Amino acid sequence: SVLILDFGSQYTQLIARRVRELNIYCEIHPFHKIPEDLSPFKAVILSGSPFSVRADDAPHPDLSSVKGKLPLLGVCYGAQYLAHFYGGKVAASNIREYGRAHLTVIKDAQPLFENITENSQVWMSHSDTIKDLPDNATTIASTADVFNAAYRIDNEDTYGIQFHPEVYHSTDGKTLLHNFLINIAGVEPDWTPGAFVDMTVADLKEKIGDDKVVLGLSGGVDSSVAAILLHKAIGKNLHCIFVNNGLLRKDEYDQVLHQYKDLGLNVKGVDATARFMDALAGIEDPELKRKAIGRVFIEVFDDEATSIENVTYLAQGTIYPDVIESISVNGPSATIKSHHNVGGLPDFMKLKIVEPLRMLFKDEVRRVGKEMDMDPNILGRHPFPGPGLAIRILGAIDQGKVRLLQEADAIFIANLKKWELYDKVWQAGAILLPVNSVGVMGDERTYEKCVALRAVESTDGMTADWVDLPYKFLQDTSNEIINKVKGVNRVVYDISSKPPATIEWE
Ligand code: XMP
Repeated sequence: SVLILDFGSQYTQLIARRVRELNIYCEIHPFHKIPEDLSPFKAVILSGSPFSVRADDAPHPDLSSVKGKLPLLGVCYGAQYLAHFYGGKVAASNIREYGRAHLTVIKDAQPLFENITENSQVWMSHSDTIKDLPDNATTIASTADVFNAAYRIDNEDTYGIQFHPEVYHSTDGKTLLHNFLINIAGVEPDWTPGAFVDMTVADLKEKIGDDKVVLGLSGGVDSSVAAILLHKAIGKNLHCIFVNNGLLRKDEYDQVLHQYKDLGLNVKGVDATARFMDALAGIEDPELKRKAIGRVFIEVFDDEATSIENVTYLAQGTIYPDVIESISVNGPSATIKSHHNVGGLPDFMKLKIVEPLRMLFKDEVRRVGKEMDMDPNILGRHPFPGPGLAIRILGAIDQGKVRLLQEADAIFIANLKKWELYDKVWQAGAILLPVNSVGVMGDERTYEKCVALRAVESTDGMTADWVDLPYKFLQDTSNEIINKVKGVNRVVYDISSKPPATIEWE
């Protein structure tokens, strides 16, 4: 496996993804927590960072346990830090170097650049530059503006590169990582979905034995894949609970429950709609809605879980991006929305946690699901927020509004599927606005609700842009919603990006 030391770059996760794409397992660890036991690791990559190595508060870890002992690749800050720390000189560059550049010179016979030719496009993002290398280092590639674009420490498998091989715009980035990891470090590319399933099922069997596990299913990809993995390992000792909070999409509770039963899961559906509606009555504030839903969810889940005898484990569908302990450069980030997941487990439940997906990225979760022959409809499902339609009905909620929004949303989603747009969109849904507007239907004046449609593209939900849906699609969908959903006389399309807007309206 490969160790990635994170210096806080926004691209660190991308490095991990690229490595995984080479079918190589890797882990991200913060720079100040270099694992003591390095025996699982065959190579080390140092990430970039928003810091300048010259700043007093910049990360300056002791790398003596890895440098010269394992093949080492420093990227951007990582390269500058290696140069700075081992006797070279890093200085502010006269021109800030951002964006596209081309390798003008590549020294022959450098294994790092095998199959990469001069003029290869690379992506730069730095304001410091390596002026002098340590005495025992040699420049192996340059660009027009950066002489020390890549270097090697003599007689070591230690390399530094000023550009970012992990970003899409570095055309040969993946080849470079392949050269470093497979050719130079000799790492085996044996990290495949099949290998993951076999390994995880065996581990779960051993860890859990004959104990019982409870898992909250949400209908989403992660909890579903986690359930199937656990089911393979421990069969009926996995007790799944699927809670209907009354805020799911139209018919989704029944459909998803059936799907789960068809998969052979030991699943109990709990319709707690009334409890959620009571708790939400009269609440207008988005954060109070989230808190109320989170609280009732835990109450319902706890009631059900304690009714199963001798449960020792709680399983969760946590995935890697939730886990990575990256370095916060600007201090703890502000709470924009208090996302609730099953996470907030009350202490008194005292269950041990098992998280079979905690090392996977979302696309890997899908590949693992596919490997286990899961239904593409489950694996391709858009993300859906835990608080469900509650945060898509602006202001106070009642069952009438939920039903109205379910109808409009169902038309929108069905049309996306009909037009084969569903899989091209990261997430889509309808929002019920708290305003009435005037319309005319037949000869009658109407004064009814307005529905907003939102469809975004994104890779991780952190940033997003609205999708340029065809006008004809929007026209058909708008007509269908206004004609079929009683109480709606106006449909609008949300054309805001995130940031500054968010994906959900609340
Ligand atoms: P925002 O609205 O913050 O959404 O741009 C980013 C992603 O997170 C989802 N989301 C939530 N998921 N509980 C969840 O489980 C929440 O409270 C919550 N709020 C937003 C949202 O659907 C999008 O995928």
